Amino acid sequence: MQAVKIREGIYWVGAIDWNMRSFHGYATGRGSTYNAYLILDDKITLIDTVKEPFKEELLARISSVIDPSSIDYIVSSHVEPDHSGALPFMAEHCPKATIFTSMPQGLKGLMNRYGVLKYQGVKAGEILRLGKRTLQFLPVPMLHWPDSMVTYCPEEKILFSNDAFGEHYATSRRFDDENDLPTILFEAQKYYANILMLYGMQAQKALKALAPFDIEMIATGHGIIWRKYIKEILGCYQKWSTHTVEERAVVVYDSMWGSTEKMARCIAEAFQQKGIPAEFYDIKKNELSDIMTDVLTAKYLAVGSPTINNQMMPTIAAFLCYLQGLAPKNHQAFAFGSFGWGGQSIQQVETALKQAGCTICHDKVRLQNKPSDEDLQEITQSILNM
Ligand code: FEO
Repeated sequence: MQAVKIREGIYWVGAIDWNMRSFHGYATGRGSTYNAYLILDDKITLIDTVKEPFKEELLARISSVIDPSSIDYIVSSHVEPDHSGALPFMAEHCPKATIFTSMPQGLKGLMNRYGVLKYQGVKAGEILRLGKRTLQFLPVPMLHWPDSMVTYCPEEKILFSNDAFGEHYATSRRFDDENDLPTILFEAQKYYANILMLYGMQAQKALKALAPFDIEMIATGHGIIWRKYIKEILGCYQKWSTHTVEERAVVVYDSMWGSTEKMARCIAEAFQQKGIPAEFYDIKKNELSDIMTDVLTAKYLAVGSPTINNQMMPTIAAFLCYLQGLAPKNHQAFAFGSFGWGGQSIQQVETALKQAGCTICHDKVRLQNKPSDEDLQEITQSILNM
Protein backbone atom coordinates (compact mmCIF):
# COMPACT_ATOMS: atom_id res chain seq x y z
CA MET A 1 0.00 0.00 0.00
CA GLN A 2 1.59 3.23 -1.16
CA ALA A 3 0.76 6.86 -0.53
CA VAL A 4 -0.01 8.92 -3.64
CA LYS A 5 1.78 12.26 -3.93
CA ILE A 6 -0.72 15.01 -4.81
CA ARG A 7 1.71 17.94 -4.27
CA GLU A 8 5.29 18.17 -3.09
CA GLY A 9 5.07 17.07 0.56
CA ILE A 10 1.35 16.25 0.44
CA TYR A 11 0.03 12.72 -0.01
CA TRP A 12 -3.29 10.91 -0.37
CA VAL A 13 -3.24 8.13 2.22
CA GLY A 14 -6.87 7.01 2.16
CA ALA A 15 -8.57 3.73 1.35
CA ILE A 16 -10.49 2.40 -1.64
CA ASP A 17 -13.70 0.50 -0.87
CA TRP A 18 -14.22 -1.32 -4.16
CA ASN A 19 -16.98 -3.56 -2.81
CA MET A 20 -19.32 -1.18 -1.01
CA ARG A 21 -22.75 -1.39 -2.66
CA SER A 22 -24.89 0.44 -0.12
CA PHE A 23 -24.21 3.52 1.99
CA HIS A 24 -27.18 3.25 4.37
CA GLY A 25 -29.53 2.67 1.45
CA TYR A 26 -27.76 4.85 -1.15
CA ALA A 27 -26.86 2.33 -3.87
CA THR A 28 -23.13 2.73 -4.48
CA GLY A 29 -22.70 0.67 -7.61
CA ARG A 30 -19.19 2.04 -8.14
CA GLY A 31 -17.99 1.63 -4.53
CA SER A 32 -16.32 4.52 -2.74
CA THR A 33 -13.11 5.85 -1.26
CA TYR A 34 -12.38 7.30 2.17
CA ASN A 35 -9.84 10.00 1.52
CA ALA A 36 -7.21 11.03 4.05
CA TYR A 37 -4.26 13.32 3.41
CA LEU A 38 -0.81 13.59 4.94
CA ILE A 39 1.03 16.93 4.99
CA LEU A 40 4.77 16.89 5.67
CA ASP A 41 5.84 20.13 7.28
CA ASP A 42 7.48 21.13 10.58
CA LYS A 43 4.29 19.75 12.09
CA ILE A 44 3.30 16.54 10.34
CA THR A 45 -0.45 16.56 9.83
CA LEU A 46 -3.05 13.97 8.89
CA ILE A 47 -6.33 15.26 7.53
CA ASP A 48 -9.09 12.79 8.34
CA THR A 49 -8.93 9.03 8.74
CA VAL A 50 -10.97 6.26 7.09
CA LYS A 51 -13.79 3.83 7.89
CA GLU A 52 -12.68 1.52 10.69
CA PRO A 53 -12.28 -1.71 8.65
CA PHE A 54 -9.78 0.15 6.42
CA LYS A 55 -7.53 1.39 9.25
CA GLU A 56 -4.61 -0.92 8.33
CA GLU A 57 -4.73 0.39 4.75
CA LEU A 58 -4.48 3.95 6.07
CA LEU A 59 -1.60 3.05 8.36
CA ALA A 60 0.24 1.22 5.56
CA ARG A 61 -0.07 4.16 3.17
CA ILE A 62 1.17 6.58 5.85
CA SER A 63 4.02 4.20 6.70
CA SER A 64 5.13 4.22 3.06
CA VAL A 65 6.13 7.88 3.62
CA ILE A 66 6.85 8.42 7.33
CA ASP A 67 6.75 6.73 10.69
CA PRO A 68 3.13 7.28 11.82
CA SER A 69 4.30 8.02 15.38
CA SER A 70 5.84 11.24 14.04
CA ILE A 71 2.40 12.71 13.25
CA ASP A 72 1.83 15.88 15.32
CA TYR A 73 -1.69 16.85 14.28
CA ILE A 74 -4.80 15.06 13.09
CA VAL A 75 -7.62 17.16 11.65
CA SER A 76 -10.99 15.45 12.05
CA SER A 77 -13.29 17.27 9.60
CA HIS A 78 -16.40 15.23 10.35
CA VAL A 79 -17.57 12.82 13.05
CA GLU A 80 -19.37 10.38 10.72
CA PRO A 81 -17.50 7.06 11.02
CA ASP A 82 -16.60 6.80 7.33
CA HIS A 83 -14.08 9.55 8.13
CA SER A 84 -13.46 9.19 11.86
CA GLY A 85 -13.77 5.40 12.31
CA ALA A 86 -10.00 4.87 12.43
CA LEU A 87 -9.38 7.79 14.78
CA PRO A 88 -8.89 5.76 18.01
CA PHE A 89 -6.55 3.40 16.12
CA MET A 90 -4.58 6.34 14.73
CA ALA A 91 -4.50 8.00 18.16
CA GLU A 92 -2.77 4.83 19.44
CA HIS A 93 -0.24 4.91 16.60
CA CYS A 94 0.34 8.66 16.84
CA PRO A 95 0.74 9.16 20.61
CA LYS A 96 1.81 12.80 20.37
CA ALA A 97 -0.92 13.87 17.94
CA THR A 98 -3.48 16.52 18.88
CA ILE A 99 -6.85 16.00 17.18
CA PHE A 100 -8.46 19.18 15.84
CA THR A 101 -12.21 19.18 15.44
CA SER A 102 -14.98 21.74 15.13
CA MET A 103 -16.26 23.43 18.27
CA PRO A 104 -18.66 22.52 19.81
CA GLN A 105 -20.29 19.91 17.56
CA GLY A 106 -17.20 17.96 16.46
CA LEU A 107 -15.86 17.88 19.99
CA LYS A 108 -19.18 16.63 21.38
CA GLY A 109 -19.58 14.06 18.60
CA LEU A 110 -16.06 12.60 18.91
CA MET A 111 -16.28 12.47 22.71
CA ASN A 112 -19.61 10.68 22.47
CA ARG A 113 -18.35 8.17 19.94
CA TYR A 114 -14.76 7.52 21.00
CA GLY A 115 -14.42 8.85 24.56
CA VAL A 116 -11.49 10.92 25.70
CA LEU A 117 -8.69 11.43 23.19
CA LYS A 118 -6.34 14.41 22.79
CA TYR A 119 -8.91 16.77 21.21
CA GLN A 120 -8.69 20.48 20.56
CA GLY A 121 -11.80 22.33 19.39
CA VAL A 122 -11.41 24.95 16.65
CA LYS A 123 -13.70 27.72 15.50
CA ALA A 124 -14.38 29.45 12.19
CA GLY A 125 -11.34 31.22 10.79
CA GLU A 126 -8.91 29.74 13.31
CA ILE A 127 -5.47 29.18 11.83
CA LEU A 128 -3.12 26.31 12.58
CA ARG A 129 0.55 26.87 11.70
CA LEU A 130 2.33 23.80 10.39
CA GLY A 131 5.65 25.48 9.39
CA LYS A 132 5.80 26.62 5.78
CA ARG A 133 2.08 26.06 5.53
CA THR A 134 -0.99 27.07 7.50
CA LEU A 135 -4.43 25.54 7.76
CA GLN A 136 -7.55 27.64 8.08
CA PHE A 137 -10.72 26.02 9.45
CA LEU A 138 -14.19 26.79 8.18
CA PRO A 139 -17.24 25.06 9.67
CA VAL A 140 -19.82 24.00 7.06
CA PRO A 141 -22.67 22.80 9.30
CA MET A 142 -24.99 20.20 7.72
CA LEU A 143 -22.61 19.40 4.86
CA HIS A 144 -23.32 16.84 5.93
CA TRP A 145 -23.67 16.76 9.74
CA PRO A 146 -23.76 19.66 12.23
CA ASP A 147 -20.05 19.17 13.00
CA SER A 148 -18.75 19.23 9.42
CA MET A 149 -15.89 21.57 8.58
CA VAL A 150 -13.55 22.16 5.66
CA THR A 151 -9.91 23.17 5.85
CA TYR A 152 -8.12 25.54 3.49
CA CYS A 153 -4.36 25.67 2.98
CA PRO A 154 -3.61 29.06 1.36
CA GLU A 155 0.07 28.32 0.60
CA GLU A 156 -0.99 25.31 -1.51
CA LYS A 157 -4.41 26.68 -2.57
CA ILE A 158 -5.91 23.35 -1.53
CA LEU A 159 -9.35 22.98 0.02
CA PHE A 160 -9.76 19.80 2.06
CA SER A 161 -13.49 19.57 1.66
CA ASN A 162 -14.51 16.28 3.29
CA ASP A 163 -18.07 15.33 2.15
CA ALA A 164 -18.63 18.50 0.11
CA PHE A 165 -17.87 18.04 -3.61
CA GLY A 166 -17.32 14.33 -3.00
CA GLU A 167 -18.77 11.24 -4.61
CA HIS A 168 -19.01 7.53 -3.99
CA TYR A 169 -16.66 6.32 -6.68
CA ALA A 170 -13.92 3.74 -6.23
CA THR A 171 -11.06 4.41 -8.60
CA SER A 172 -7.32 3.98 -8.61
CA ARG A 173 -7.07 7.26 -10.55
CA ARG A 174 -6.96 9.95 -7.90
CA PHE A 175 -7.59 13.06 -10.00
CA ASP A 176 -10.62 14.33 -11.92
CA ASP A 177 -8.71 14.67 -15.22
CA GLU A 178 -7.60 11.02 -15.05
CA ASN A 179 -11.24 9.87 -15.02
CA ASP A 180 -14.17 10.12 -17.40
CA LEU A 181 -15.73 13.57 -16.83
CA PRO A 182 -19.43 12.65 -17.41
CA THR A 183 -19.03 9.72 -15.01
CA ILE A 184 -17.49 11.77 -12.20
CA LEU A 185 -20.02 14.60 -12.68
CA PHE A 186 -22.85 12.03 -12.59
CA GLU A 187 -21.49 10.53 -9.37
CA ALA A 188 -21.07 14.01 -7.85
CA GLN A 189 -24.70 14.77 -8.77
CA LYS A 190 -25.84 11.46 -7.29
CA TYR A 191 -23.94 12.24 -4.08
CA TYR A 192 -25.40 15.74 -3.85
CA ALA A 193 -28.95 14.49 -4.59
CA ASN A 194 -28.90 11.75 -1.98
CA ILE A 195 -26.74 13.27 0.75
CA LEU A 196 -26.99 17.04 0.46
CA MET A 197 -30.22 17.95 -1.40
CA LEU A 198 -31.91 18.74 1.90
CA TYR A 199 -29.19 21.25 2.76
CA GLY A 200 -29.28 23.61 -0.22
CA MET A 201 -29.37 26.70 1.99
CA GLN A 202 -26.34 25.52 3.97
CA ALA A 203 -24.53 24.65 0.72
CA GLN A 204 -25.24 28.18 -0.51
CA LYS A 205 -23.76 29.62 2.70
CA ALA A 206 -20.69 27.44 2.31
CA LEU A 207 -20.21 28.49 -1.34
CA LYS A 208 -20.38 32.16 -0.30
CA ALA A 209 -17.87 31.57 2.51
CA LEU A 210 -15.52 29.80 0.09
CA ALA A 211 -15.80 32.44 -2.64
CA PRO A 212 -12.81 34.54 -1.42
CA PHE A 213 -10.50 31.52 -1.41
CA ASP A 214 -8.22 30.94 -4.36
CA ILE A 215 -8.70 27.20 -4.90
CA GLU A 216 -6.46 25.16 -7.21
CA MET A 217 -7.36 21.78 -5.77
CA ILE A 218 -10.34 20.36 -3.91
CA ALA A 219 -9.18 17.35 -1.93
CA THR A 220 -12.49 15.67 -1.14
CA GLY A 221 -13.39 13.07 1.46
CA HIS A 222 -14.79 10.64 -1.15
CA GLY A 223 -13.90 9.79 -4.72
CA ILE A 224 -11.69 11.89 -6.94
CA ILE A 225 -9.67 15.04 -6.22
CA TRP A 226 -10.71 18.04 -8.32
CA ARG A 227 -7.86 19.99 -9.92
CA LYS A 228 -8.87 20.56 -13.57
CA TYR A 229 -12.65 20.86 -13.30
CA ILE A 230 -12.95 23.07 -10.20
CA LYS A 231 -15.03 25.68 -12.03
CA GLU A 232 -17.35 22.91 -13.24
CA ILE A 233 -17.94 21.29 -9.85
CA LEU A 234 -18.42 24.69 -8.14
CA GLY A 235 -20.88 25.61 -10.92
CA CYS A 236 -22.77 22.35 -10.37
CA TYR A 237 -23.00 23.02 -6.62
CA GLN A 238 -24.27 26.52 -7.35
CA LYS A 239 -26.98 25.04 -9.60
CA TRP A 240 -27.92 22.15 -7.31
CA SER A 241 -27.94 24.18 -4.10
CA THR A 242 -30.27 26.78 -5.63
CA HIS A 243 -32.62 23.96 -6.74
CA THR A 244 -32.33 24.99 -10.39
CA VAL A 245 -34.43 22.66 -12.54
CA GLU A 246 -34.45 21.90 -16.27
CA GLU A 247 -37.35 21.28 -18.65
CA ARG A 248 -37.22 17.53 -18.04
CA ALA A 249 -39.70 15.03 -16.63
CA VAL A 250 -39.25 11.99 -14.41
CA VAL A 251 -41.98 9.34 -14.43
CA VAL A 252 -41.86 6.89 -11.51
CA TYR A 253 -44.39 4.11 -11.07
CA ASP A 254 -45.21 0.67 -9.80
CA SER A 255 -47.75 -1.58 -11.48
CA MET A 256 -49.52 -4.83 -10.58
CA TRP A 257 -51.03 -6.03 -13.86
CA GLY A 258 -49.63 -3.50 -16.32
CA SER A 259 -52.36 -0.83 -16.35
CA THR A 260 -50.49 1.80 -14.31
CA GLU A 261 -47.45 1.02 -16.43
CA LYS A 262 -49.48 1.74 -19.59
CA MET A 263 -50.44 5.10 -18.11
CA ALA A 264 -46.78 5.76 -17.20
CA ARG A 265 -45.66 5.03 -20.77
CA CYS A 266 -48.38 7.27 -22.14
CA ILE A 267 -47.38 10.13 -19.78
CA ALA A 268 -43.68 9.80 -20.64
CA GLU A 269 -44.52 9.76 -24.37
CA ALA A 270 -46.77 12.82 -24.00
CA PHE A 271 -43.97 14.79 -22.31
CA GLN A 272 -41.69 13.85 -25.19
CA GLN A 273 -44.30 14.96 -27.73
CA LYS A 274 -44.39 18.23 -25.86
CA GLY A 275 -40.61 18.57 -26.38
CA ILE A 276 -39.80 17.72 -22.75
CA PRO A 277 -37.39 14.77 -22.37
CA ALA A 278 -38.74 12.18 -19.93
CA GLU A 279 -36.90 9.58 -17.83
CA PHE A 280 -38.89 6.44 -17.08
CA TYR A 281 -38.49 4.45 -13.85
CA ASP A 282 -40.22 1.22 -12.88
CA ILE A 283 -39.62 1.45 -9.14
CA LYS A 284 -39.06 -2.33 -8.89
CA LYS A 285 -36.18 -2.22 -11.34
CA ASN A 286 -34.37 0.92 -10.20
CA GLU A 287 -32.62 2.18 -7.08
CA LEU A 288 -34.14 5.13 -5.21
CA SER A 289 -30.76 6.85 -5.23
CA ASP A 290 -30.53 6.68 -9.03
CA ILE A 291 -34.05 8.04 -9.44
CA MET A 292 -33.30 10.86 -7.01
CA THR A 293 -30.22 11.83 -9.03
CA ASP A 294 -32.55 12.60 -11.93
CA VAL A 295 -35.27 14.16 -9.80
CA LEU A 296 -32.76 16.75 -8.47
CA THR A 297 -32.73 18.69 -11.73
CA ALA A 298 -36.02 17.68 -13.41
CA LYS A 299 -38.86 20.21 -13.35
CA TYR A 300 -41.66 17.65 -13.69
CA LEU A 301 -42.34 14.55 -11.62
CA ALA A 302 -45.21 12.12 -12.30
CA VAL A 303 -45.71 9.35 -9.74
CA GLY A 304 -48.04 6.41 -10.31
CA SER A 305 -49.34 3.65 -8.10
CA PRO A 306 -52.19 1.15 -8.24
CA THR A 307 -54.14 0.55 -5.03
CA ILE A 308 -53.39 -2.44 -2.84
CA ASN A 309 -55.32 -3.06 0.41
CA ASN A 310 -56.60 0.54 0.28
CA GLN A 311 -53.04 1.91 0.11
CA MET A 312 -50.47 2.94 -2.46
CA MET A 313 -47.86 0.28 -3.23
CA PRO A 314 -45.24 0.08 -0.44
CA THR A 315 -42.51 0.62 -3.05
CA ILE A 316 -44.01 3.98 -4.02
CA ALA A 317 -44.59 4.86 -0.34
CA ALA A 318 -40.86 4.27 0.25
CA PHE A 319 -39.97 6.49 -2.71
CA LEU A 320 -42.24 9.28 -1.48
CA CYS A 321 -40.92 8.98 2.08
CA TYR A 322 -37.36 9.29 0.73
CA LEU A 323 -38.41 12.26 -1.44
CA GLN A 324 -40.03 14.02 1.53
CA GLY A 325 -36.84 13.58 3.56
CA LEU A 326 -34.71 15.19 0.86
CA ALA A 327 -37.17 18.11 0.56
CA PRO A 328 -36.81 18.92 -3.14
CA LYS A 329 -37.79 22.37 -4.35
CA ASN A 330 -39.21 23.83 -7.56
CA HIS A 331 -40.81 20.60 -8.80
CA GLN A 332 -44.15 20.40 -10.60
CA ALA A 333 -45.76 17.06 -9.91
CA PHE A 334 -48.86 14.95 -10.27
CA ALA A 335 -50.19 11.52 -9.33
CA PHE A 336 -51.68 8.81 -11.50
CA GLY A 337 -52.73 5.20 -11.27
CA SER A 338 -55.15 2.48 -12.26
CA PHE A 339 -57.30 0.71 -9.69
CA GLY A 340 -59.76 -2.16 -9.44
CA TRP A 341 -62.03 -0.71 -6.77
CA GLY A 342 -61.52 1.93 -4.08
CA GLY A 343 -58.56 3.63 -5.78
CA GLN A 344 -57.33 5.47 -2.69
CA SER A 345 -53.68 5.28 -3.73
CA ILE A 346 -53.82 8.13 -6.24
CA GLN A 347 -55.00 10.71 -3.71
CA GLN A 348 -52.44 9.37 -1.24
CA VAL A 349 -49.66 9.88 -3.79
CA GLU A 350 -50.86 13.42 -4.53
CA THR A 351 -50.96 14.26 -0.81
CA ALA A 352 -47.46 12.88 -0.32
CA LEU A 353 -46.15 14.89 -3.29
CA LYS A 354 -47.58 18.06 -1.73
CA GLN A 355 -46.04 17.15 1.61
CA ALA A 356 -42.69 16.73 -0.15
CA GLY A 357 -42.96 20.35 -1.29
CA CYS A 358 -43.99 19.75 -4.91
CA THR A 359 -46.51 21.99 -6.67
CA ILE A 360 -49.36 19.98 -8.18
CA CYS A 361 -49.37 20.88 -11.87
CA HIS A 362 -52.01 18.47 -13.22
CA ASP A 363 -55.16 16.85 -11.82
CA LYS A 364 -54.51 13.38 -10.53
CA VAL A 365 -55.23 10.78 -13.21
CA ARG A 366 -57.36 7.87 -11.94
CA LEU A 367 -58.49 5.08 -14.23
CA GLN A 368 -60.48 2.02 -13.26
CA ASN A 369 -59.09 -1.26 -14.57
CA LYS A 370 -57.31 -1.36 -17.94
CA PRO A 371 -56.89 1.98 -19.75
CA SER A 372 -58.70 2.11 -23.11
CA ASP A 373 -57.21 3.78 -26.20
CA GLU A 374 -59.55 6.71 -25.58
CA ASP A 375 -58.33 7.00 -21.97
CA LEU A 376 -54.74 7.12 -23.17
CA GLN A 377 -55.55 9.73 -25.84
CA GLU A 378 -57.19 11.84 -23.16
CA ILE A 379 -54.10 11.61 -20.93
CA THR A 380 -51.86 12.57 -23.86
CA GLN A 381 -54.02 15.55 -24.72
CA SER A 382 -54.17 16.81 -21.16
CA ILE A 383 -50.38 16.63 -20.79
CA LEU A 384 -49.96 18.44 -24.13
CA ASN A 385 -52.33 21.14 -22.85
CA MET A 386 -50.59 21.41 -19.48
FE1 FEO B 1 -18.71 10.88 4.24
FE2 FEO B 1 -21.08 12.45 6.16
O1 FEO B 1 -19.70 11.24 5.79
